[in-house]
Amino acid sequence: MIREVITYPNKLLRTKSKDVVKFDSELHTLLDDMYDTMIVENGVGLAAIQVGIPLNVLIINLPSEEEDIQEKENLIEAINPVITHKDGSQLFLEGCLSVPGFNEEIKRAQHIIVEYFNRNGEKQTMEAEDFLAVAWQHEMEHLAGHLFIENLSVIKRKKFEKEWKKRLKQKS
Ligand code: CO
Repeated sequence: MIREVITYPNKLLRTKSKDVVKFDSELHTLLDDMYDTMIVENGVGLAAIQVGIPLNVLIINLPSEEEDIQEKENLIEAINPVITHKDGSQLFLEGCLSVPGFNEEIKRAQHIIVEYFNRNGEKQTMEAEDFLAVAWQHEMEHLAGHLFIENLSVIKRKKFEKEWKKRLKQKS
């Protein structure tokens, strides 16, 4: 089922998410719904708080480099993730389904190691670099109640706020 993606400046996006304690059918429905929602919105990642659920749950599904197809077999479902190692740095052009139509380069670690649980409560470890490391760090930020635009320089942030206000006015 497709759920509604909440967008900036909805205050819910500032919620610090809590750990999942039950790996039950409710969690599986949430994960399935998040996948359907991410695909229909043309996203490559989604955190549960973006559909209004304050749980430490995220999904990532990057397109394959060769064919640019989002294969479901590459879908990552992560529950209660923790980044245990970060190094290097990279600049990457990011976007977010909660800040639709806005893209900006953000500096992040180039390489990370993350520990998490899959939908069955089994512990996983993943090493990620480049785009995948960006996606992890971006989604983890949502779980902490933050958005990628908070990493912008003061000048770029001001410019963004001005443009965003204008756009919200046009919509209403
Ligand atoms: Co996002």
